[in-house]
Amino acid sequence: MRCPHGIVRATDEAGCGFADNRPSPVYPGVAGMIESMQRGEQLYSGKAKTVYVTDDADKLILHFRNDTSAFDGEKVAQLDRKGMVNNKFNAFIMQQLEHAGIKTHFESLRSESESVVKRLEMLPIECVVRNIAAGSICKRYGVEEGIDLNPPTFEFFLKDDARHDPLINDYHIRAFGWATEPEVAEMKHTTFRVNEVLTDLFANGGMLLVDFKLEFGRYRGELLLGDEFTPDGCRVWDEKTREKLDKDRFRRDLGGVVEAYEQVAARLGVPLD
Ligand SMILES: Nc1ncnc2c1ncn2[C@@H]1O[C@H](COP(=O)(O)OP(=O)(O)OP(=O)(O)O)[C@@H](O)[C@H]1O
Ligand SMILES: [Mg+2]
Repeated sequence: MRCPHGIVRATDEAGCGFADNRPSPVYPGVAGMIESMQRGEQLYSGKAKTVYVTDDADKLILHFRNDTSAFDGEKVAQLDRKGMVNNKFNAFIMQQLEHAGIKTHFESLRSESESVVKRLEMLPIECVVRNIAAGSICKRYGVEEGIDLNPPTFEFFLKDDARHDPLINDYHIRAFGWATEPEVAEMKHTTFRVNEVLTDLFANGGMLLVDFKLEFGRYRGELLLGDEFTPDGCRVWDEKTREKLDKDRFRRDLGGVVEAYEQVAARLGVPLD
């Protein structure tokens, strides 16, 4: 199913979430990958991605590995195809967000499991919006998983695995200099805007966007959305059955982790081949 803006959908539900007439994002398939960018030294290797410098000082290569981790790196596994699926999933979402006017670091796909991005000065902060209660918010406040959060909640966490990414607020961020007051406001505003865009996108594929995490970074005086948006960093449930289609399958040993990610990709129309 292809909407009037050329976005392929796995369902026949009307609408693609875009109300304007701008051209649809051109999603580069394998043929459209830009492979000319030279991969240089490894800059950083995290739990799921390795970051490389390139011959352009303003660009980095993100390599999405098959490594999967949960509980601040305590549980780890290798899952076949996950790096490829997440790389293409992220490229698709970042382009949808760009199309909706949200500035991101994404430049292009470089290979099956690599993307070229702008080099950001990352803020050590995670921004989380929740539409439905699940995960840490249930434990923290003793609320039942699955209740609707109205309004959706917003939380900041400090990116610090050793301290288990503690919950922080605007005052901590400003007092400790992790970001400025305008950056705090922009991160909140943009994260809620991403929620609007993606809630619609997932709904069109018959899915509920339960919650998600974003990271931002500075680039030439602007704040851009960085890192990734994949089923590793969000919760997605089937709208009718509420089956979990995200990393909770790994956390809870439910099996079929990458198969679930591929199902989400198919329902959104993300080209994986
Ligand atoms: N455009 C970018 N410029 C610079 N760094 C980036 C960019 N996008 C993502 N990063 C950083 O690259 C790393 C990606 O690796 P990964 O997600 O595997 O790390 P991680 O294990 O989550 O570790 P960390 O806690 O440092 O994020 C993260 O530290 C992320 O903040
Ligand atoms: Mg990460």
